[in-house]
Amino acid sequence: MKKRSLSGIKPTGTIHLGNYFGAIKQFVDLQDEYESFVFIADFHAITTVQNKEELSKNTLNITMDYLACGLDPKKVCLFKQSDLPEVTELTWYFNCLTTVPYLERATAYKDAKAKSKEASVGLFDYPILMAADILIQDADIVPVGADQKQHVEYARDTAIKFNNAFGETFKLPEPRILKEVATVPGIDGKKMSKSYSNIIPLFGTDEQIRKAVMSIITDSKAPADPKNPDECNIFAIHKLFLKGEELESLRKRYEEGGLGYKEAKDMLYEKLIAFITPMREKREYYENNIEEVKKILKEGAIKAKENIKAKMELIRNNVGVNIN
Ligand code: TYM
Repeated sequence: MKKRSLSGIKPTGTIHLGNYFGAIKQFVDLQDEYESFVFIADFHAITTVQNKEELSKNTLNITMDYLACGLDPKKVCLFKQSDLPEVTELTWYFNCLTTVPYLERATAYKDAKAKSKEASVGLFDYPILMAADILIQDADIVPVGADQKQHVEYARDTAIKFNNAFGETFKLPEPRILKEVATVPGIDGKKMSKSYSNIIPLFGTDEQIRKAVMSIITDSKAPADPKNPDECNIFAIHKLFLKGEELESLRKRYEEGGLGYKEAKDMLYEKLIAFITPMREKREYYENNIEEVKKILKEGAIKAKENIKAKMELIRNNVGVNIN
């Protein structure tokens, strides 16, 4: 029997190279080897997106992004989180086992507090909803970027708490984080993230991509100067696309001097466009066949629901809300 993989992305805006290399590429690479579940975390997105047109548009957009990146709906169960309202029921059971100080240690909550924002209850409880997503489907692995590691640990802790309180119900999931792309840097060298405004969009227009690439922050060395590639934000992004000899020869050009930052950016832009073009074409197909996209989500919802049926009965029996 194949092991099960599950992961998701929040529909909060445009996806970027960090989402692609940290997460989506893993989903695509794992779809043959694992029984795969990939979803659009629209419940989670409501912590920030509170506009109905925007939420539904973003949800369809991410679905098309997934398909364009190579997820095959024949191999992967592709669904949206809100089609499984059972995750909110499970979140409640988990909430009753979770303490406030435990959730106060969550990084996302601490960040919100540090910015002196008053966090919503939804944001505070975010890790527990995520634990429910993972545990309800009996996932063995959760392919994600490094920023989600703590969340998968929360899911494991929660599984243990539930099993101790109500009897053996959940297996413990493992995060799957790839070292080289665990934290993809943005144009300023910090983690690429929508909230830092430092992204290179995966499905941006040529102009948007060019603008992002040309804005990559560098020092002020002249073209003739030798440069340390490991200190260069442009090289860090080149590394996502170049392997073996190609990477080594670029490294050498940095070290020898004679490669200006403008040229390194132009090379990166060309590489990016060549990389994206086939995916863009696929995405255009889905944009013109939106009913097909909606149908994929509907079928995914049916399969995801079927998959949790027995588990939900076990959970309800173990909690005691079922009267048998
Ligand atoms: P989200 O939408 O913030 O990010 C989606 C995925 O992209 C990865 N990622 C990165 N990886 C490497 N480098 C980066 N710069 C980078 N930026 C983003 C994230 O690690 C993530 O894998 N909480 C989740 C959504 C979610 C989920 C789940 C994931 C809800 N339920 C259950 C797994 C399982 C999130 O906000 O991801």
